[in-house]
Amino acid sequence: MRTDTGQVFKLEDYRPSDYLIPLTELSFRLSPDATEVKAVLTIERRDGVATTAPLVLDGDGLLLKKLEIDGTPLAQSTYTVTPDRLEIAHPPEAKRFKLTIETEVAPVHNEALMGLYLSNGVYCTQCEAEGFRRITYFLDRPDILSVYTVRVEAPKAEAPQLLSNGNPLERGEMADGWHYAVWHDPFPKPSYLFALVAGSLGIVNDRFVTRSGREVELGIYVEHGKEKLADYAMDALKRSMKWDEDVFGCEYDLDVFNIVAVSDFNMGAMENKGLNVFNDKYVLADAETATDADFANIEAIIAHEYFHNWTGNRITCRDWFQLCLKEGLTVFRDHEFSADQRSRPVKRIAEVRTLRAHQFPEDQGPLAHPVRPRRYREINNFYTATVYEKGSEVVRMIRTVLGPEAFRAGMDLYLKRHDGEAATIEDFLKAFEDASGRDLSQFALWYHQAGTPNLTVSSAYNAAAREFTIEIEQSVPPTPSESRKRLMHIPLAFGLVGADGRDMVYESVEGATVDDGVIHVRKRRHSIRFSGIAERPALSLNRGFSAPITLSVEQKTEDRIFLSGHDSDPVARWQAFNTLLTEALIAASRQIRGGKRPVFSDRLSALAGQIACDDALEQAYRALALALPGEADIAREIGNDIDPDAIFAAREALAKRIAEENGPSLRDLYERLRDNGEFSPDAAGAGRRALRNALLDYLALLTDGASLAADHFRLAANMTDRAAALTVLAHRHSGTPQATGALASFESRYANDPLVMDKWFLVQASVPGAQTVETVRRLTSHRGFSMSNPNRVRALVGTFANANQTGFHRADGEGYRFFGEMVLEAERRNPQLAARLATAMRSWRSLEAGRRDKARATLLAISGTEGLSTDLRDIVERMLA
Ligand code: ARG
Ligand code: ZN
Repeated sequence: MRTDTGQVFKLEDYRPSDYLIPLTELSFRLSPDATEVKAVLTIERRDGVATTAPLVLDGDGLLLKKLEIDGTPLAQSTYTVTPDRLEIAHPPEAKRFKLTIETEVAPVHNEALMGLYLSNGVYCTQCEAEGFRRITYFLDRPDILSVYTVRVEAPKAEAPQLLSNGNPLERGEMADGWHYAVWHDPFPKPSYLFALVAGSLGIVNDRFVTRSGREVELGIYVEHGKEKLADYAMDALKRSMKWDEDVFGCEYDLDVFNIVAVSDFNMGAMENKGLNVFNDKYVLADAETATDADFANIEAIIAHEYFHNWTGNRITCRDWFQLCLKEGLTVFRDHEFSADQRSRPVKRIAEVRTLRAHQFPEDQGPLAHPVRPRRYREINNFYTATVYEKGSEVVRMIRTVLGPEAFRAGMDLYLKRHDGEAATIEDFLKAFEDASGRDLSQFALWYHQAGTPNLTVSSAYNAAAREFTIEIEQSVPPTPSESRKRLMHIPLAFGLVGADGRDMVYESVEGATVDDGVIHVRKRRHSIRFSGIAERPALSLNRGFSAPITLSVEQKTEDRIFLSGHDSDPVARWQAFNTLLTEALIAASRQIRGGKRPVFSDRLSALAGQIACDDALEQAYRALALALPGEADIAREIGNDIDPDAIFAAREALAKRIAEENGPSLRDLYERLRDNGEFSPDAAGAGRRALRNALLDYLALLTDGASLAADHFRLAANMTDRAAALTVLAHRHSGTPQATGALASFESRYANDPLVMDKWFLVQASVPGAQTVETVRRLTSHRGFSMSNPNRVRALVGTFANANQTGFHRADGEGYRFFGEMVLEAERRNPQLAARLATAMRSWRSLEAGRRDKARATLLAISGTEGLSTDLRDIVERMLA
């Protein structure tokens, strides 16, 4: 583990390296505790660099065995080496020379899951961001592009499959039952895209012919016996390859494309050139073991990693500050892909919910940073919702601002102009400016300025003048180290909805640039006047969630109710109803905190019933509308002095009220939506299940709710329904024989399937209430649990901290104490996992005073621990700052 050195990396310090590495030849002799790595690097001095410039290579915990230049061993006195650095003070004067480095690594002891490690007996690598330096000394930075040839040797019985990047060159037998394979990747790539996999795996094969006729061999490698579970992933891969050709003109460029599923993985997946490595959670699925959400995630992540082949690999990042260049753009591309494969509005609403749940709290708390950060201590802590999700929103806004044609022209130019290069955000924006002739300098603040902008909006109608006026004021709240903000360019899609539900047409507008249904907010204040308006419209704002902002709108409840039923934009329509629910829940939680009984309007529950039963609406949409704002969403809207217990009680009361007011019609609909037997993971099937399970959540609050949910569980023919029923039983009927029985039956059915057992851990970790911390503590000793597997830790401990407001924020601080212990326990093995886990406390300052003090005590206890990793120290200190 690297302990913290306090070093801060700054964007403005970027400087090209003195040396380049045009060719990299690697050979691996694999063994669990002593893998020999030989690297032959062709080193080239950059033009204009003095021959006296030392060559300094990065390492991380390495053991150097041998060092040669052009075949001659180096004298000890001519270099200095530590596990983390190799410096050759006087490299040869020749412009090019060959440096041979032999190192030894121990994959079996690599619990950080960075570099070369073993997962379930399979050798695999993870190099992004800085894992390659845990394999050999190198210029481990993304602007060093090199052509790799890789030879892998291993005992044939242990590792019949030997994989690396690019195309297979040759393979053969060796003495003593060993064999080898050689791979060559013709595309120069940065070290973070290097990958090696060796092991005994089951293989699923297929083929894809690109639009120009290249035949590509596709392979998905999984644990033996799980081959069937990779069918959906394979299908998603082929659809992704086709889609990227059709929509972005991006064609695949190697003869093979391989995906390997491993069970120990820090993140979702990794886009190594020609050899994607995946967390198996995002590959394996069938109706018996995966929910509809799992299928959708698999489709999205398979696409995401595949799309990186152009946005990330062919064009990579100059430095890690530019991470959003590949991540924000690639998330945008996978969002568009999923929208095309499924329901666009439903997908968009889900994205909005995710952004609000993950990115808004980040942007509004101590961990806020610009989409393109300027500083970091540990780059792994910047694989964030801001870089990914907000980064994607920024690309979407570029499309909104330029229009789809100019956007596509800009993308084409970017891909053409920078192919084979390591680029920056400035390069990216310039391509759009050049292709469109537009000036994006104010827009660029979206990359440089942290914080969620807010628009305060009011409107007035003047019947005599037939004029409608909208007053808009923008503000960007201060964030760490950025107290003063500049004015942003916010594309605000809107509609003036008439009584017939149609958008009204205006004669003229003044006060802002308004085109194609978008108001371009650029100044602090805009007073926008629409003329020729015959009646007072209902104002629909931020349609399609055109900008990742918060809105403070003075709007009549009448208008919100009207928009909930009539806005032609489904996202704004969903938003209108969601805002009504949120306002009601905030009011109710205040009443509860004041010792009163919460009061809800009859119209709200009637509206919920209407939306549920409106067959003109998509089923998935209705399910989303029925999902009450989460406790954390409500807390975020309240902003400070949060009492999670009051919020929970308010939410329960409203759910009960909706169930009671609409019982018979919801029940009737629930019956009508019964399964017809056939399972299909597509959007229509998933939508029906989502709606029926949303109804179950309400019906479970009524008399006999426990037995209804128990029947739902017993009759479930797929994991979506089974997991939904299990959740309802465990959450709403905790401790009843039905809940206990379902948990036991689920456990015995899936005891040998770790990915499914994660759902069992997750359900129990999210049971609301003070007692759950004891349950979770007990489950850490369950035989299916392991502190060294990230999926297990996230399912149990991560869920407890992120998705259990009343349990985690227990008033006596026990939730935090337990969590603090777990974070430190995780950090001894896997600092990246621990740091990620710890971010669950990022909103601690918004809690009421008692909880806030207890949360601070836990953070201080972590930060007071000696020898913390850079990863965890960085996160904890920023949260405390
Ligand atoms: N580039 C990967 C993706 O597709 C994420 C890998 C990040 N890994 C890490 N250890 N920071 O999003
Ligand atoms: Zn990515």
